[in-house]
Amino acid sequence: MQNTILAIESSCDETAVSIIKVKKNAQGQIISLNILAHEVESQTEIHAPFGGVVPEVAARDHLAKIYDIAHKALNVSKLKKNDLTAIAVTMGPGLIGALMVGVLFARGLAMSLNIPLISVNHVDAHLAPVLLLKQFSPKDDLRAWHDVEAVSFPALALTVSGGHCHLSLLESPNERKILGKCLDDACGEAFDKVAKLLGLAYPGGPLIEELAKQAEKSANINDFSYPGKPANKENRYNFSYSGIKTAVMESIRKETGIKKGKITGKDLSKEKKQSIAYAFQQAALSQLLNRIENALEDFPEIKTVLVAGGVAQNKKFRSLFAKLNKPTFFAPPSLCSDNATMIALQAALSENTDGFTRHPFAKYT
Ligand code: KG4
Ligand code: ZN
Repeated sequence: MQNTILAIESSCDETAVSIIKVKKNAQGQIISLNILAHEVESQTEIHAPFGGVVPEVAARDHLAKIYDIAHKALNVSKLKKNDLTAIAVTMGPGLIGALMVGVLFARGLAMSLNIPLISVNHVDAHLAPVLLLKQFSPKDDLRAWHDVEAVSFPALALTVSGGHCHLSLLESPNERKILGKCLDDACGEAFDKVAKLLGLAYPGGPLIEELAKQAEKSANINDFSYPGKPANKENRYNFSYSGIKTAVMESIRKETGIKKGKITGKDLSKEKKQSIAYAFQQAALSQLLNRIENALEDFPEIKTVLVAGGVAQNKKFRSLFAKLNKPTFFAPPSLCSDNATMIALQAALSENTDGFTRHPFAKYT
């Protein structure tokens, strides 16, 4: 059975359309997967002056771009609309105005072509590239870089991005139980907010990582320290980042003498900024590692660890997994940030063996 899926992602600040071709055998196993188009338009420049995503601005920009991006994806794939056999779309979680643009566009397209519409959970989809990596055609830029057969179950999965921090237990690619979530700010959001305090651009994650690297190079790492893994006795798997962010703010106030009002990082030297970025990154990443260690301790049957989401691009973060002594698989960097290929792959994973089902529009939070 072969299907050609056009997938749409518009849950936050990326407007993305991808097209994949997927072949399954009679048992429903995926035997080949080709990415025919992978179009992503990021809105980061539009939101940069605000230091974070502005929901209304995001929705309007998706609305302005989605039609052209879908056209471009079809052109790149050299397919005609009628070659498509299913549409997949991010149904949530995400910004409601932004989601509505993608969902309504997808519904209209599926209705006009009279083909199934598959609704996809965005957080689940972040893991799909990790679960399906070996299946990519070697011709694709996003080619395989690990042997997917090595991803054995049960697996522990961390999806860590600007909007989410989910720790889940996977019995198989489609049987997932959420162990923990972020109770306040997500990890990537904390990177972005601390970057703003330091006067850096949006998104702050890569810029903080770079500053932290410079701090390490010049051994400028002892000036600050923030709480790494706030006590969370009642739940060993949940995440909390608002405390670290406040601690960073307080330390900047102390350092600069600015007692009230906005902090922009203008009054900090380059060395102090590097040192703060280093200490924050240490604290933020050690909390992620700590929750993973807790889960590995509580569930000794876990065979592999899977990591995805925007923050998974952080090289320092990736290096920390060596000490876990568990086979760990990361999403390829090009599929860590929001994109529609992961939505298409998740649709392929969740589809029935005898063809596509019209998934009910489940409520995603
Ligand atoms: O997955 P993603 O593109 O969007 C969401 O679903 O939220 O993740 C974006 C987030 C941003 O908060 C960004 O600052 C963070 O991922 N990020 C990083 C790095 N690259 C991106 N955080 C830490 N280190 C990085 N190198
Ligand atoms: Zn995401």
